[in-house]
Amino acid sequence: MTILQLDSPTDDRLLKAVSQHYEPMMRVHGEINFDLGLGRAEVQLAAAVYGHTLPAVAYLPCCGALRHVPALLASGIELLFAVDLSFGSLSAGLARNVSGDDLGKLTVCHADIRQAREILPDEGVRFIFLGGNSMGDVTDVDGHLEFIAALADVLSPGGVMVFDYAGDRYAPKPDDAVTEWPETFHADGVDVAVIDRRARSMTPVAGTAMQILRITCQVTDAATGEDHVPEHAYSKLIVPDRVLTEQFAGAGLHLVNVGRVVDLSPYHHDRVRDVADLGMLGTPNCYYRATRL
Ligand SMILES: C[S@@+](CC[C@H](N)C(=O)[O-])C[C@H]1O[C@@H](n2cnc3c(N)ncnc32)[C@H](O)[C@@H]1O
Repeated sequence: MTILQLDSPTDDRLLKAVSQHYEPMMRVHGEINFDLGLGRAEVQLAAAVYGHTLPAVAYLPCCGALRHVPALLASGIELLFAVDLSFGSLSAGLARNVSGDDLGKLTVCHADIRQAREILPDEGVRFIFLGGNSMGDVTDVDGHLEFIAALADVLSPGGVMVFDYAGDRYAPKPDDAVTEWPETFHADGVDVAVIDRRARSMTPVAGTAMQILRITCQVTDAATGEDHVPEHAYSKLIVPDRVLTEQFAGAGLHLVNVGRVVDLSPYHHDRVRDVADLGMLGTPNCYYRATRL
Protein backbone atom coordinates (compact mmCIF):
# COMPACT_ATOMS: atom_id res chain seq x y z
CA MET A 1 0.00 0.00 0.00
CA THR A 2 1.20 3.53 -0.73
CA ILE A 3 1.65 5.81 2.24
CA LEU A 4 0.53 9.34 1.29
CA GLN A 5 3.22 11.92 2.01
CA LEU A 6 2.38 15.49 2.98
CA ASP A 7 4.90 18.24 3.48
CA SER A 8 4.89 19.19 7.12
CA PRO A 9 6.69 22.22 8.51
CA THR A 10 9.58 21.09 10.62
CA ASP A 11 8.76 20.58 14.27
CA ASP A 12 12.27 19.67 15.35
CA ARG A 13 11.37 18.58 18.86
CA LEU A 14 8.63 16.25 17.62
CA LEU A 15 10.80 14.82 14.83
CA LYS A 16 13.51 14.15 17.42
CA ALA A 17 11.01 12.29 19.65
CA VAL A 18 10.03 10.17 16.63
CA SER A 19 13.59 9.30 15.57
CA GLN A 20 15.14 8.91 19.04
CA HIS A 21 12.23 7.37 20.93
CA TYR A 22 9.16 6.13 19.06
CA GLU A 23 10.98 4.36 16.23
CA PRO A 24 13.86 2.64 18.11
CA MET A 25 11.53 1.69 20.99
CA MET A 26 9.43 -0.38 18.55
CA ARG A 27 12.08 -3.09 19.10
CA VAL A 28 11.35 -3.30 22.83
CA HIS A 29 9.02 -6.23 23.38
CA GLY A 30 6.92 -4.66 26.14
CA GLU A 31 6.10 -1.52 24.11
CA ILE A 32 2.54 -1.59 22.91
CA ASN A 33 3.01 -1.02 19.15
CA PHE A 34 2.05 -4.56 18.15
CA ASP A 35 -0.29 -5.35 21.05
CA LEU A 36 -3.50 -6.01 19.15
CA GLY A 37 -5.30 -7.32 22.26
CA LEU A 38 -4.73 -4.01 24.02
CA GLY A 39 -5.76 -2.18 20.84
CA ARG A 40 -8.99 -4.17 20.73
CA ALA A 41 -9.83 -3.37 24.37
CA GLU A 42 -9.14 0.33 23.77
CA VAL A 43 -11.35 0.41 20.67
CA GLN A 44 -14.12 -1.35 22.59
CA LEU A 45 -13.90 1.32 25.29
CA ALA A 46 -13.69 4.17 22.75
CA ALA A 47 -16.85 2.86 21.05
CA ALA A 48 -18.63 2.68 24.42
CA VAL A 49 -17.57 6.27 25.21
CA TYR A 50 -18.78 7.35 21.73
CA GLY A 51 -22.12 5.87 22.75
CA HIS A 52 -23.55 4.90 19.33
CA THR A 53 -22.76 2.45 16.57
CA LEU A 54 -19.49 3.64 15.06
CA PRO A 55 -20.04 5.57 11.81
CA ALA A 56 -18.88 4.44 8.38
CA VAL A 57 -16.06 7.00 8.15
CA ALA A 58 -13.55 7.71 10.93
CA TYR A 59 -10.19 9.32 11.63
CA LEU A 60 -7.26 7.86 13.61
CA PRO A 61 -4.74 10.69 14.20
CA CYS A 62 -1.33 9.89 15.75
CA CYS A 63 -2.03 6.29 14.74
CA GLY A 64 1.55 5.05 15.35
CA ALA A 65 1.88 1.43 14.20
CA LEU A 66 -1.84 1.15 13.36
CA ARG A 67 -2.60 -1.26 16.22
CA HIS A 68 -6.18 0.06 16.53
CA VAL A 69 -6.96 -0.48 12.83
CA PRO A 70 -8.11 -4.15 12.89
CA ALA A 71 -10.54 -3.56 15.76
CA LEU A 72 -11.90 -0.32 14.28
CA LEU A 73 -12.54 -1.98 10.91
CA ALA A 74 -14.10 -5.00 12.65
CA SER A 75 -16.48 -2.58 14.42
CA GLY A 76 -18.17 -1.50 11.19
CA ILE A 77 -16.00 1.41 10.05
CA GLU A 78 -15.73 1.20 6.26
CA LEU A 79 -13.29 4.02 5.57
CA LEU A 80 -10.55 4.90 8.04
CA PHE A 81 -7.99 7.72 7.71
CA ALA A 82 -4.79 7.11 9.71
CA VAL A 83 -2.11 9.82 10.08
CA ASP A 84 1.24 9.86 11.88
CA LEU A 85 4.54 11.72 11.75
CA SER A 86 6.56 8.51 12.06
CA PHE A 87 7.09 6.82 8.70
CA GLY A 88 8.82 3.90 10.50
CA SER A 89 5.74 3.29 12.67
CA LEU A 90 3.38 3.45 9.69
CA SER A 91 5.40 1.04 7.56
CA ALA A 92 6.03 -1.43 10.43
CA GLY A 93 2.33 -1.24 11.30
CA LEU A 94 1.24 -1.95 7.73
CA ALA A 95 3.54 -4.98 7.64
CA ARG A 96 2.58 -6.43 11.03
CA ASN A 97 -0.77 -5.08 12.24
CA VAL A 98 -2.97 -4.79 9.13
CA SER A 99 -4.26 -7.68 7.05
CA GLY A 100 -4.46 -7.49 3.26
CA ASP A 101 -8.27 -7.64 3.42
CA ASP A 102 -8.36 -4.39 5.41
CA LEU A 103 -6.11 -2.36 3.12
CA GLY A 104 -8.95 -1.29 0.83
CA LYS A 105 -10.70 0.47 3.73
CA LEU A 106 -7.62 2.33 4.91
CA THR A 107 -5.92 5.59 3.87
CA VAL A 108 -2.53 6.00 5.55
CA CYS A 109 -0.75 9.34 5.56
CA HIS A 110 2.67 10.42 6.78
CA ALA A 111 2.22 13.95 8.11
CA ASP A 112 1.85 16.17 11.12
CA ILE A 113 -1.86 15.99 11.94
CA ARG A 114 -1.88 19.80 11.98
CA GLN A 115 -1.31 19.66 8.21
CA ALA A 116 -3.54 16.68 7.33
CA ARG A 117 -6.87 18.43 6.64
CA GLU A 118 -6.51 18.16 2.85
CA ILE A 119 -6.60 14.33 2.84
CA LEU A 120 -9.71 14.17 5.07
CA PRO A 121 -13.33 14.42 3.86
CA ASP A 122 -14.46 18.04 3.21
CA GLU A 123 -17.61 17.45 5.26
CA GLY A 124 -15.58 16.17 8.22
CA VAL A 125 -16.04 12.96 10.19
CA ARG A 126 -18.38 11.98 13.04
CA PHE A 127 -15.78 9.98 14.99
CA ILE A 128 -12.10 10.50 15.83
CA PHE A 129 -10.10 8.19 18.08
CA LEU A 130 -6.83 9.60 19.42
CA GLY A 131 -5.33 6.68 21.34
CA GLY A 132 -2.18 5.76 23.23
CA ASN A 133 -1.89 8.98 25.23
CA SER A 134 -0.92 11.09 22.24
CA MET A 135 -2.34 14.34 23.65
CA GLY A 136 0.55 16.50 24.90
CA ASP A 137 3.20 15.25 22.45
CA VAL A 138 3.29 18.78 21.04
CA THR A 139 4.77 20.50 24.06
CA ASP A 140 4.91 24.15 23.00
CA VAL A 141 1.64 25.75 24.06
CA ASP A 142 0.81 27.39 20.70
CA GLY A 143 1.52 24.13 18.88
CA HIS A 144 -0.66 22.23 21.36
CA LEU A 145 -3.55 24.64 20.74
CA GLU A 146 -3.05 24.20 16.97
CA PHE A 147 -3.16 20.41 17.53
CA ILE A 148 -6.56 20.66 19.29
CA ALA A 149 -7.88 23.13 16.68
CA ALA A 150 -6.82 20.83 13.83
CA LEU A 151 -8.74 17.93 15.37
CA ALA A 152 -11.80 20.11 16.02
CA ASP A 153 -11.69 21.25 12.39
CA VAL A 154 -12.08 17.66 11.14
CA LEU A 155 -15.18 16.91 13.24
CA SER A 156 -18.56 17.56 11.64
CA PRO A 157 -21.10 19.34 13.93
CA GLY A 158 -22.16 16.91 16.68
CA GLY A 159 -19.15 14.72 15.88
CA VAL A 160 -17.15 13.21 18.75
CA MET A 161 -13.46 12.71 19.46
CA VAL A 162 -12.63 10.07 22.04
CA PHE A 163 -9.12 10.15 23.48
CA ASP A 164 -7.12 8.97 26.47
CA TYR A 165 -4.80 11.13 28.53
CA ALA A 166 -2.85 10.48 31.72
CA GLY A 167 -2.35 14.23 32.29
CA ASP A 168 -1.06 15.19 35.73
CA ARG A 169 -1.92 11.76 37.14
CA TYR A 170 1.40 10.42 35.74
CA ALA A 171 3.51 13.04 37.57
CA PRO A 172 6.49 11.48 39.37
CA LYS A 173 6.38 11.08 43.13
CA PRO A 174 9.62 11.30 45.14
CA ASP A 175 9.93 7.51 45.36
CA ASP A 176 9.17 6.66 41.70
CA ALA A 177 10.96 9.40 39.70
CA VAL A 178 13.48 6.79 38.48
CA THR A 179 12.33 3.33 37.47
CA GLU A 180 13.94 0.39 35.69
CA TRP A 181 12.68 -2.99 34.65
CA PRO A 182 13.85 -6.02 32.65
CA GLU A 183 12.78 -6.20 29.01
CA THR A 184 13.49 -8.06 25.79
CA PHE A 185 14.99 -6.19 22.84
CA HIS A 186 14.53 -7.51 19.30
CA ALA A 187 18.03 -6.92 17.92
CA ASP A 188 18.78 -8.00 14.32
CA GLY A 189 17.66 -11.61 14.35
CA VAL A 190 18.16 -12.23 18.10
CA ASP A 191 16.24 -11.42 21.26
CA VAL A 192 18.43 -9.87 23.93
CA ALA A 193 17.76 -9.36 27.66
CA VAL A 194 17.91 -5.63 28.41
CA ILE A 195 17.13 -3.11 31.15
CA ASP A 196 14.74 -0.24 30.34
CA ARG A 197 15.51 2.79 32.55
CA ARG A 198 13.32 5.89 32.78
CA ALA A 199 13.62 9.05 34.86
CA ARG A 200 10.82 11.61 35.05
CA SER A 201 10.93 15.28 36.06
CA MET A 202 8.44 18.13 35.85
CA THR A 203 8.99 21.80 34.97
CA PRO A 204 6.26 24.46 35.13
CA VAL A 205 5.30 26.28 31.93
CA ALA A 206 5.77 29.90 33.00
CA GLY A 207 2.58 31.86 33.60
CA THR A 208 0.29 28.81 33.21
CA ALA A 209 -0.98 25.88 35.28
CA MET A 210 0.64 23.53 32.74
CA GLN A 211 3.89 21.61 33.16
CA ILE A 212 6.35 19.77 30.96
CA LEU A 213 7.00 16.18 31.92
CA ARG A 214 10.50 15.24 30.72
CA ILE A 215 11.25 11.54 30.52
CA THR A 216 14.77 10.27 29.94
CA CYS A 217 14.96 6.74 28.61
CA GLN A 218 17.81 4.32 27.98
CA VAL A 219 17.80 0.64 27.05
CA THR A 220 20.99 -1.24 27.91
CA ASP A 221 22.13 -4.83 27.53
CA ALA A 222 21.46 -6.70 30.81
CA ALA A 223 24.73 -8.65 30.49
CA THR A 224 27.20 -6.12 29.04
CA GLY A 225 25.66 -2.72 29.86
CA GLU A 226 26.06 -1.70 26.18
CA ASP A 227 23.37 0.63 24.76
CA HIS A 228 20.63 -0.79 22.55
CA VAL A 229 18.67 2.48 22.62
CA PRO A 230 20.99 5.34 23.68
CA GLU A 231 19.89 7.67 26.44
CA HIS A 232 17.49 10.28 25.08
CA ALA A 233 14.71 12.47 26.41
CA TYR A 234 11.15 13.01 25.28
CA SER A 235 8.50 15.27 26.77
CA LYS A 236 4.77 15.55 27.31
CA LEU A 237 2.75 18.69 27.94
CA ILE A 238 0.81 18.13 31.16
CA VAL A 239 -2.45 20.03 31.14
CA PRO A 240 -4.77 19.90 34.17
CA ASP A 241 -8.36 18.96 33.26
CA ARG A 242 -9.70 22.44 34.09
CA VAL A 243 -7.30 24.05 31.61
CA LEU A 244 -7.81 21.34 28.98
CA THR A 245 -11.58 21.96 29.18
CA GLU A 246 -10.99 25.68 28.49
CA GLN A 247 -8.63 24.92 25.61
CA PHE A 248 -11.18 22.56 24.04
CA ALA A 249 -13.98 25.11 24.52
CA GLY A 250 -11.77 27.63 22.68
CA ALA A 251 -11.75 25.22 19.71
CA GLY A 252 -15.55 24.72 19.84
CA LEU A 253 -15.45 21.38 21.67
CA HIS A 254 -17.32 20.36 24.81
CA LEU A 255 -14.98 18.17 26.88
CA VAL A 256 -15.95 15.53 29.44
CA ASN A 257 -13.56 13.31 31.42
CA VAL A 258 -15.52 10.06 31.35
CA GLY A 259 -13.40 8.27 33.96
CA ARG A 260 -10.38 6.12 34.67
CA VAL A 261 -9.59 3.37 32.19
CA VAL A 262 -9.19 0.84 35.01
CA ASP A 263 -12.76 1.55 36.13
CA LEU A 264 -14.24 1.59 32.62
CA SER A 265 -12.50 -1.39 30.98
CA PRO A 266 -12.42 -4.85 32.62
CA TYR A 267 -9.47 -5.74 30.35
CA HIS A 268 -7.39 -2.85 31.71
CA HIS A 269 -8.51 -3.49 35.27
CA ASP A 270 -7.38 -7.13 35.11
CA ARG A 271 -4.12 -6.41 33.26
CA VAL A 272 -3.11 -3.72 35.77
CA ARG A 273 -3.98 -6.08 38.63
CA ASP A 274 -2.24 -9.15 37.16
CA VAL A 275 0.66 -7.86 35.06
CA ALA A 276 1.01 -4.13 35.88
CA ASP A 277 2.80 -3.41 32.58
CA LEU A 278 0.74 -0.52 31.17
CA GLY A 279 2.56 2.48 32.67
CA MET A 280 0.83 5.69 31.64
CA LEU A 281 -1.84 3.69 29.75
CA GLY A 282 -2.88 2.01 33.02
CA THR A 283 -3.86 3.43 36.40
CA PRO A 284 -3.22 7.16 35.67
CA ASN A 285 -5.05 7.09 32.34
CA CYS A 286 -8.56 8.51 31.75
CA TYR A 287 -10.87 8.47 28.74
CA TYR A 288 -12.37 11.74 27.44
CA ARG A 289 -15.22 12.60 25.07
CA ALA A 290 -15.02 15.89 23.13
CA THR A 291 -18.14 16.85 21.20
CA ARG A 292 -18.12 19.40 18.37
CA LEU A 293 -20.67 22.09 19.22
C1 LIG B 1 2.33 7.69 22.21
S1 LIG B 1 2.41 7.26 20.51
C2 LIG B 1 0.85 6.46 20.27
C3 LIG B 1 0.71 5.77 18.97
C4 LIG B 1 -0.63 5.06 18.74
N1 LIG B 1 -1.74 5.97 18.82
C5 LIG B 1 -0.82 3.92 19.69
O1 LIG B 1 -1.65 4.03 20.61
O2 LIG B 1 -0.14 2.90 19.54
C6 LIG B 1 2.18 8.85 19.81
C7 LIG B 1 2.25 8.87 18.30
O3 LIG B 1 1.80 10.15 17.88
C8 LIG B 1 2.61 10.60 16.81
N2 LIG B 1 2.49 12.07 16.83
C9 LIG B 1 2.68 12.91 17.86
N3 LIG B 1 2.39 14.17 17.51
C10 LIG B 1 2.01 14.11 16.22
C11 LIG B 1 1.57 15.10 15.29
N4 LIG B 1 1.49 16.40 15.61
N5 LIG B 1 1.21 14.70 14.05
C12 LIG B 1 1.31 13.39 13.70
N6 LIG B 1 1.71 12.42 14.53
C13 LIG B 1 2.06 12.79 15.78
C14 LIG B 1 3.98 10.04 17.09
O4 LIG B 1 4.75 9.91 15.92
C15 LIG B 1 3.62 8.69 17.72
O5 LIG B 1 3.57 7.68 16.73
